[in-house]
Amino acid sequence: MNVLDILDKKEKGEKLTKEQLQYVIDNYLNGNIKDYQMSAFLTEIDLLGLSEEETIDLTDIMLKSGETLNLGFDNLADKHSTGGVGDKTTIVLAPLVASLGVKIAKMSGRGLGHTGGTIDKLESIKGFKTSMTLEEFKNQVDKIGLALVGQMGNLVPADKKIYALRDVTGTVDSIPLIASSIMSKKLASGAKNIVIDLKVGSGALVNNLKEAKELANLMVEIGKKNDKNIACVLTDMDEPLGNTIGNSLEVIEAIDTLKGNGPKDLTDLVIKLGSLMVSMSLNVDEKAALEKLKENLANGKAYQKFKQWVQAQGGDINDIPYSKHKKEIKSNKEGFISHIDALEIGKLSRKLGAGRLNKDDIIDLSVGICLNYKVGDYVHKGDTLATIYYNEKEITDEEFLSSYKFSQEKIEKSKLIIDVIK
Ligand code: URA
Repeated sequence: MNVLDILDKKEKGEKLTKEQLQYVIDNYLNGNIKDYQMSAFLTEIDLLGLSEEETIDLTDIMLKSGETLNLGFDNLADKHSTGGVGDKTTIVLAPLVASLGVKIAKMSGRGLGHTGGTIDKLESIKGFKTSMTLEEFKNQVDKIGLALVGQMGNLVPADKKIYALRDVTGTVDSIPLIASSIMSKKLASGAKNIVIDLKVGSGALVNNLKEAKELANLMVEIGKKNDKNIACVLTDMDEPLGNTIGNSLEVIEAIDTLKGNGPKDLTDLVIKLGSLMVSMSLNVDEKAALEKLKENLANGKAYQKFKQWVQAQGGDINDIPYSKHKKEIKSNKEGFISHIDALEIGKLSRKLGAGRLNKDDIIDLSVGICLNYKVGDYVHKGDTLATIYYNEKEITDEEFLSSYKFSQEKIEKSKLIIDVIK
């Protein structure tokens, strides 16, 4: 077997065997296959796709490239989001479902992006530790029902190396490559019950519904083949989620949501994802799970669980940073908001310092944007559309206002939950 024959076979549209896929991954990891050869292989996959069987095989090979976690809890649930602007879902969802007895042992990322990842957001709580030993991790899950860390063990090294190459070769958006990347990591972290929040729209990895459904079906199929309970929720990401974008601002909004006072879109999303996680993990009816989740947001149990979690990881809930300055941005138009460009708002937050362009950039946890209105709301000229929280780096009113479109006709609020595939 050699890499040129495999590239040739793929180019002709022939199916690759598991042995051939294994050969490529093994030899890329040990350095025999070079970056330029792997780039050619990834580009072929991006252009020609992979069959479902090839994708399942590739996922299995990536999964077995490193360690896998087995914490020994059978009611363990995991959630993955493909990432969006203002996405603070995990910070609400994890303690909420844990307050009903579901175990959460989660690994989250920092990552590049417009704002930090969940790990960065949580680190805006002073003292919150995002690394621990495997034994500490397991003990915390056992004792309080949830723990969240940045990285644990050497899980899926193949994805680390391949993802870095995809990032610089324009092959991030290939459906089979996304499916095998996400699912190999989810399978490696060992939860029996998996819910994936697949964002669709301008601020998202996938921006059209057809591709999103294809990806969702593929991930669900991979999950089932690996004996997992799995659901994939397609959610709208044309406007930011919730009202805040920026690390500490998002934690504050997550806390409001855990107290039952969150924005409607974030609350609805958390309850939908949570009801799937609870029904799978505790084997209860989804509607009953949904009612219990709403109850625990209203009666303070979800917030109590959050406080217990933050304390267990060394954080001080009363010490969350604010920026030095803030300024209000007034609307220069009147009408119904018809569009808020999530991607542009994300980029502006990054410009304020809330996100990274390069992986070693240091982010400012206290800056960001708080929106007062969402798509479908009516605003008058001069109303405060948003508040910008900033330190050294600023954005202009014009830059911000160019992310908005208005209409004189009434606009329907966009539907957040587009579909559930399971
Ligand atoms: N997130 C992942 O983990 N992998 C991808 O390929 C895309 C998004």
